[in-house]
Amino acid sequence: MVADGYGQTLMDQKMTRAAPVGELGLLAFDDRGQETRLDRSGSLRGRILKYVLARFGGAQERGSNWLHRTSLRRPVDAARMALSMAAAVARAVWVGIDPEGFFRRHSSDTKPFLRRFPGLGEVLFVSTVDGARDILTAPGTLCRAPLPNPIEPLVGQNSLILLSGEPHRRTRSILMPAFHGERMRGYVDLIADATNDEIVALRPGDQLAVRDAAQAITLDVVIRVVFGVTDRARRAEYAGVIRELMRSGTAPLMLVPWLRREIAGRGPWARLVGFRAQLDGLLSEQIEKRRGIGAHGTDVMDLILSATDEDGNRLGDDALRDQLRTMLAAGHETSSTSLAWALYHIHRDESIRSRAAKELAAAATPGEIAALPYLGAVIQETLRMHPPVPIALRRLTGPLTVAGVPRSGGDVVGIALPALHFNPDVWKDPDAFNPDRFLERKPSPFEYAPFGGGYRRCIGAAFAQHELAVAIGTIMNTVELRMPASERRRKPPRAVLRAIATKPNREILLDVIAWR
Ligand code: HEM
Repeated sequence: MVADGYGQTLMDQKMTRAAPVGELGLLAFDDRGQETRLDRSGSLRGRILKYVLARFGGAQERGSNWLHRTSLRRPVDAARMALSMAAAVARAVWVGIDPEGFFRRHSSDTKPFLRRFPGLGEVLFVSTVDGARDILTAPGTLCRAPLPNPIEPLVGQNSLILLSGEPHRRTRSILMPAFHGERMRGYVDLIADATNDEIVALRPGDQLAVRDAAQAITLDVVIRVVFGVTDRARRAEYAGVIRELMRSGTAPLMLVPWLRREIAGRGPWARLVGFRAQLDGLLSEQIEKRRGIGAHGTDVMDLILSATDEDGNRLGDDALRDQLRTMLAAGHETSSTSLAWALYHIHRDESIRSRAAKELAAAATPGEIAALPYLGAVIQETLRMHPPVPIALRRLTGPLTVAGVPRSGGDVVGIALPALHFNPDVWKDPDAFNPDRFLERKPSPFEYAPFGGGYRRCIGAAFAQHELAVAIGTIMNTVELRMPASERRRKPPRAVLRAIATKPNREILLDVIAWR
């Protein structure tokens, strides 16, 4: 629907809540949670004002401001709005600088807490098991993906992450089979090859830059296993374009849609669009090539090309490229961060390193490495301490009570994972890195949720756990690494937020002691 004016339309439609969507659109909800999308063009001043309100105000306030046409009329309202915006921006900066610290402060909270963020408005966060259960068991019919999502320019509008309702369910049913547990056997050798290529040049006396190496390995894994590219020169071409694309997705461009404009074919947006088109060109060629030779079912690309939903529909080319870029965006940084943290914690504590090394010495193949229990527990503990995606969010389309607090259609609710994972009622001595806790007891999906859960649970969860185990195992079985005393004395790195995932804020260097 194209609205004449937001406020008038909200009144006419008896809409009680509104939330921003797209650049200048609104998703408005009536009392029963029925939604209407409003898109509006208008004077530049009006558009900027509405855009600022839509991004920085809370859902309920936005609705009522337009409904009653009080926005910024009274100096008191204007001052309150300015303060609220400043607090939301300051909070977003704090979350960006220290997401784990920001949320862990709430690990002992027994009640949910409200926080307002630019773009999302007010979010009700939970850090308790009951709250997580309420959110993760909410059906897909009661939730939407919270929009706008800053990664939209990278992944495209057909991305699974941005879809809701029936299109989301159908697309998931096409993508999921490529990530089922039994498929992993076909992928682990490719993961081991990608890891070996990265460490083959290391010699005793060298240092391994953990964050850079993790980044390179996980990028190569996406290119080989997800995009199905085997040729070395072609893989290097992909890696070059993807690095430029990621670099051009700067924070201002991701957060401020208004900046997404080309100036005579130049500027940051033109750069991003250019690299995205280059990647799409490579992906289109790869899709054509695979269609030509027929699918063999050995990598994700093959399986997605041949997959259909229950009505026999396949993904169109645009949607297919959007899903491939989605897996790149969702699967590369998250795994890279986890690999870096796991190597850090393993080598920081000699007892953990020697126990993992002993277990690994008995594993001859990547498949055997992926099944090792202690290594698996190390990975689980890494994801408990440093969930790379720190929040799992849902926008409600109707009423839901979350941890005893009633919410309505249009509201955003979320799990603060660093708080849930440090909840002292569940985790004894949560600050200690202790893999044994996962060998002693299997936590419930509402106590531990690094991959989110419910109808939107990460489709790459099994893949990521195999990838991490095989990459760590291959590195430790190839070279003996030690943490230098200087690193041991330093304060541990801090997680910072980058695009979709967190990452350690500085490089971590490990000494190469010997080849095994
Ligand atoms: C350690 C690595 C990873 C972590 C911690 C992680 C975490 C997450 C989380 C928390 C979500 C949101 C779930 C929710 O809202 O309930 C998610 C969604 C998603 N992840 Fe992952 N992820 C990882 C790796 C991967 C990989 C390797 C892939 C694919 C190759 C992937 C693809 C996706 C996709 C497509 C979604 C969207 C699912 C949907 O909206 O239905 N992730 N991930």
